[in-house]
Amino acid sequence: MIKQPFYPVILAAGQGSRMKSDLPKVLHTVGGLPLLYHVIQTVQDMGCGDVCVVTSPNMKDIRTSSEIQHAIQEKPLGTAHAVLSAASYIEKTKLPILVLYGDTPLIQENTLKLMVKALQEAHVVVLGMQVRVDNNYGRIFADNTGCINRIVEAKDATAAEKENSLCNSGVMLVRHDICLPLLQKVKNNNAKKEFYLTDLIELGNKAGYRSQVIIRDHDELRGVNTRQDLAEIEHAFQERKRVAFLDAGVTLVDPKTVYFSYDTLIGQDVIIAPHVVIGPKTTIESGAVIKSFSVLEGAHVGQGASVGPFARLRPGTYIGAKSKIGNFVEIKQSKLGEGTKVSHLSYIGDATLGAGVNIGAGTITCNYDGFRKHQTVLENNVFIGSNTSLVAPVHLEAGVMVAAGTVVTENAPKDSLVIARTGQHNIKDGAKRFRKKNS
Ligand code: UD1
Ligand code: MG
Repeated sequence: MIKQPFYPVILAAGQGSRMKSDLPKVLHTVGGLPLLYHVIQTVQDMGCGDVCVVTSPNMKDIRTSSEIQHAIQEKPLGTAHAVLSAASYIEKTKLPILVLYGDTPLIQENTLKLMVKALQEAHVVVLGMQVRVDNNYGRIFADNTGCINRIVEAKDATAAEKENSLCNSGVMLVRHDICLPLLQKVKNNNAKKEFYLTDLIELGNKAGYRSQVIIRDHDELRGVNTRQDLAEIEHAFQERKRVAFLDAGVTLVDPKTVYFSYDTLIGQDVIIAPHVVIGPKTTIESGAVIKSFSVLEGAHVGQGASVGPFARLRPGTYIGAKSKIGNFVEIKQSKLGEGTKVSHLSYIGDATLGAGVNIGAGTITCNYDGFRKHQTVLENNVFIGSNTSLVAPVHLEAGVMVAAGTVVTENAPKDSLVIARTGQHNIKDGAKRFRKKNS
């Protein structure tokens, strides 16, 4: 087990009013995962079993996870006040306190490790970033060794102070013994009448403590305040994923047109054509090919399989090795064995298909009767002719052949030929007579 390096207190009690949303800001998603859970995952990956999230009383939806310690901030009176809401947890731990924001999802493990290292020489470590455009971040005033003098909030800053481009990301690591005593001294005599966490720096300096800034890229530390920010962060997240997959040996023919989720797993030598969207809980094994305009979600694609173009794999899909899923095929909650082919225009739902099964164009599993879902089972090497309806529940044993256009309503034994369609009549000169009558 990795030793927990700090006690994270993730602030998420702000109203997020600029999102103009009924959903709390930190529950909006990036890469298919709520903003807050990106932050939680990062600290959990670093060995943090104990994590505290500060929310407001109306955010019950967030407080569902029992793995997380929840502190409630009764009123949003500022970032220092928010951290103090977690005082009962802070008292119990002996670890340094890491303050993170629930709306800043792209922060990296390496950055947090640098902060831990810097805390050996300082009492407080703050993550800063250079932002050269006009902005509302707090400004960090530090000497050339990175020792911080004070942080001034944009609303309280003079025009000259706002010229300083070294901005506060909000992320702060504080030694345990000084955290609560300093927080309790913070006052709200400022433009917003809030208790600012950033006031800890000046209070610490007065007591003889040292605060150190570490500077990282703005892209990593930016937070979400508006939908515009959310879109920009999604963009940055996708870029990060694309680079990681390219580096891991995945071919992306046109990387910027392929979208991933936070938990996408892809093996080596997978080829992904342009315009593919991969939703949560998807794994693609090595050597598989995903062709253009395919959407995969909750799907497993086996080694060397081929999917698309224009395929839709919905949750619960398991595609065996070397299988082929062609154009305009939708699959959900179904398992397909090795080398099975569903090449064109089909819907396969709630089905189990063995190995070497061939599904003809236009085949549909009729899995839903308006009340319940029913299963279709096709054993190894079953051959389904085009335009077949498989009315579930139905079970065809190994080697069964179904003639094109059949409506299958009954089970069939091994190697039988199934045919169910009305006979054909050729009426002599019928077409000729019809044309004559209508011309
Ligand atoms: C804060 C920093 C600012 C920094 C900026 C970075 C302070 C005083 N200011 O300003 O220096 O540049 O972040 O984005 O710390 N929150 C609560 N309870 C509250 C207030 C806020 O939980 O009472 C949470 C919010 O949900 C959010 C975070 O704290 O996750 C930051 O709050 P926000 O109001 O966005 O602070 P800023 O004004 O942006
Ligand atoms: Mg903010």
